[in-house]
Amino acid sequence: MKKMKHLLTLLDFSRADLEAILHLGIDLKKSFYKGKSDLCLQGKTLAMIFEKASTRTRVSFEVAMFQLGGHAIHLDMASSQLGRGESYEDTARVLSGYVQGIMLRTFSQVNLEKMASVASVPVINGLTDLFHPVQVLADLMTILENKKNIDELKIAYVGDGNNMTNSWINAAIIFGFDLNVATPAGYEPSGQILQEMSSHPNIEILQDPVRAVKSADVICTDTWFSMGQKEDAQKHKLFTPFQVNKKLLSHALDEVMVLHCLPAHRGEEITNEVMDGSNSFIFREAENRLHIQKAILKTLMQ
Ligand code: CP
Ligand code: NVA
Repeated sequence: MKKMKHLLTLLDFSRADLEAILHLGIDLKKSFYKGKSDLCLQGKTLAMIFEKASTRTRVSFEVAMFQLGGHAIHLDMASSQLGRGESYEDTARVLSGYVQGIMLRTFSQVNLEKMASVASVPVINGLTDLFHPVQVLADLMTILENKKNIDELKIAYVGDGNNMTNSWINAAIIFGFDLNVATPAGYEPSGQILQEMSSHPNIEILQDPVRAVKSADVICTDTWFSMGQKEDAQKHKLFTPFQVNKKLLSHALDEVMVLHCLPAHRGEEITNEVMDGSNSFIFREAENRLHIQKAILKTLMQ
């Protein structure tokens, strides 16, 4: 991948490019455990802008830059001029003169597109209301570490139709695995996403979590209330049948992998028993954020 490239959604990349990133993530993880370092980003800096809270994304990107020999700078709305109304475009123009990559976690995908439209360095989506591509890459890496052919798998996403669901749909469009999405009526993925998946019969939207997880190799879930959304009791009640619990797992394959991007609301979308049980790959998935970030940064910024 020679040309300067942004990672705004998974659809920005070909299947071959994504496979290369996933395998690089696995290789970098193995090297890390062998104590080998790769200082390919020496002298380079990543600006990380967070308009929403973060534990994993912030720490994994910052540590990834450090381990690759580079440096990361954390910016937020309160302490930068973005918070006082400086435009995304002007911020991107200025940062492009200082740093070799920009990671933005923001609300609207449009903010990210504005930065990418003028930045002369790669712009990476660290989560928007619409997509969370770097998380789904960590999830795919975790699956690939444990299962051979991603395209032959049956993956179920159970819960709210949110940024994670949309990025899973993008992954299913690219890789061709069977994806069943189960959400309560009214919480399905939205217009643009439905349109993009319409020519991909491997992706099905259901309202029945049991049907969705039938013989599934992987079950994913996420919070019912994403950042910026208000919790409400009615939505809680509506989502209760969509909880990932032991009973739901009994409809999947015995060796089903359970994934959750975290943070989890234990006892809501997932039970303690499943989260801490033998089918859970959730904390390995979280650890893999570090290694996949290194693969993403090396691919885009080297
Ligand atoms: N999964 C994830 O993106 O976590 P953070 O919000 O902690 O970054
Ligand atoms: N859907 C969640 C993911 C958090 C990592 C959110 O947007 O809050």
